[in-house]
Amino acid sequence: PLLPEDQWPTYPGFNFEILHRDQGDSDARTGRLTTPHGVVETPAFIFCATKAAIKGLTMEQMKACDTQIVLSNTYHLHVQPGSEAIRDMGGLQKATNWRGPMLTDSGGYQIFSMGHGSVSDEIKGRRGATDANPNPPSLLSIGEKGARFKSYHDGSIKQLSPETSIQIQRDLGADLILVLDECTPFHVDKEYTAASTRRSHRWALRSLNEFVRTANEGAQQQALYGIIQGGVYRDLRAESAAFVNAQPFFGIAVGGSLGASAADMYRVVDMTMAMVRRDRPVHLLGIGGVADIFNGVSHGIGTFDCVHPTRLGRHGGALVRVRHWPKSACSLAVQSSPPVHTNPRGIDTFDCVHPTRLGRHGGALVRARHWSRGGGEGQVPRASIQLAKGQFRGDARPVDAECGCPTCAAGYSRAYLHHCVRAGELVGGALLTQHNVWTMNALMADVRAAIAAGTPLEQVEDHWLAPGLRSA
Ligand code: GUN
Ligand code: ZN
Repeated sequence: PLLPEDQWPTYPGFNFEILHRDQGDSDARTGRLTTPHGVVETPAFIFCATKAAIKGLTMEQMKACDTQIVLSNTYHLHVQPGSEAIRDMGGLQKATNWRGPMLTDSGGYQIFSMGHGSVSDEIKGRRGATDANPNPPSLLSIGEKGARFKSYHDGSIKQLSPETSIQIQRDLGADLILVLDECTPFHVDKEYTAASTRRSHRWALRSLNEFVRTANEGAQQQALYGIIQGGVYRDLRAESAAFVNAQPFFGIAVGGSLGASAADMYRVVDMTMAMVRRDRPVHLLGIGGVADIFNGVSHGIGTFDCVHPTRLGRHGGALVRVRHWPKSACSLAVQSSPPVHTNPRGIDTFDCVHPTRLGRHGGALVRARHWSRGGGEGQVPRASIQLAKGQFRGDARPVDAECGCPTCAAGYSRAYLHHCVRAGELVGGALLTQHNVWTMNALMADVRAAIAAGTPLEQVEDHWLAPGLRSA
C-alpha cells in the first residue's frame, strides 16, 4: 500500500540540519536533530534503557553525564509491563523522568535474536540487545503478517505486526520510532536475505500507513525512521537503500547483518552509506564499539546505540583512553603495528632497535591493512580495563585521572572499585557504568569538535585507540 504523496507525514516539531562537513576525504558531518523533547547534537551515542531503565543509573545521573538521548525497546515493554501501562504512566519520558529525546526500537531485532538459533558471539556482543536470560524468549513463527513469540515473562503468546509495533510505540511515546523489520542474521543465504528484505519493505510501508493513521490520536508528535536491510549483499543493500530513500521517513536506520567480522562490517557500512541520501539523520543499529564509531562517523553515520558501555560497566569494565590501556593491549598493538613517524623536521636518517628487537620477540612490521584488530580477526577491540583484575588491588588512582565523570571526579579509587566488583557490590557496577556513559559522551563530543574545527578524525582516534585497533 503505497502512501499517496498528499498523505505523507510532515513531522512537525522535528528538524535535522547539517552543521559541518569534513573538508577532507571522509563523509563525516555534524548535525542538529531537533525533537519535541530537545536537541541531539550529532554524532551522538544512544544508551540502552531497554526496559525503560538504564541498568544501575537514574536518568538524573544520565543527564549529569551529558547524555543526549536514550532508547527503549518495544518488544521488552510489550511483554512487561505492556505498553498501556507505560502510556498510563504518562509515557516513557514522564515515567523514567528522562525528559529529553528518546528512541524506541520496533522489535525487529528480537525477531532476529530469538529466531535463528546460533548467532556468533561476536555479532551478539556488538549488537547485544539481549542480556543473558535464563529463560530465553522464543520466536514461534514469522510470516507476512508479523511475528509471534512466546513471552519470557509469563509464557503467553505475543504478536508483533507492523501495525501493533507502531501502536505500541505510540503508547510508549518516544520521539523517534522505527518501522518493524526483520534483522537478518549473517549466516542465512542470499535467497533468504532477499526475501526477508523485501518483506521488511512491505512491513515498512504498513508501518508508515499505521503511523499516518494514528497521527492525530496522541498529542505526542513522533518521527518515523525507515530501516535499510539487505545483509552483506551489495545489490540487496542498494535495493533497500533505494526503497528507504524514496519513502517519506524522517530518518534512516542501517540494520541487518553487517557480516561476521569487523572488517565485513566496515565494508557493509561503507557500501550502504554510499547509497543513502544525505539530507536525513542516519542511525547505525546496535553498533557502538569505539573503533566502529570512528568508522561509522567517517561514512556519515550520526547516531549509534549499543549495550556495550553500560553492560561493560556492570561487569567491572571501564572504557579508557589509549594512554591507560593495560600492558597486554598495548603490547599487542605495538607488535602488530609500525611506529608512526611523521618526521616533521626533515630528519634524514633514523636508528632504533625496534625492528630487530620486535622480530626477536615474534613481532612483524606490516602495512596498516594487515594490522591486527585487538586479539585476532573478528574480535571486538578492547579499549577498556577490567577492574576485577588483581593489578588494581591497592591502586589508589581514579579510573582515569583526567576524566571529568562523577565517579572519577569524586575520587573513587581503582582499589575501591576493584573491591566492589570482587565483592559483588552493586554500586561498583553503577559507578563504572557512570564513568562509561560519561566517557562515551566525551568521545562523541571530541568527534563533533574535530569535525567542526576541521581537525582530521585520525587525531581524535589517536587519542582513543591504539593503531592496531583502528577502524582503517
Ligand atoms: N538492532 C540491531 N540491528 C537491528 C535491526 O536490523 N533492526 C532493528 N529493528 N533493530 C536492530
Ligand atoms: Zn571517569
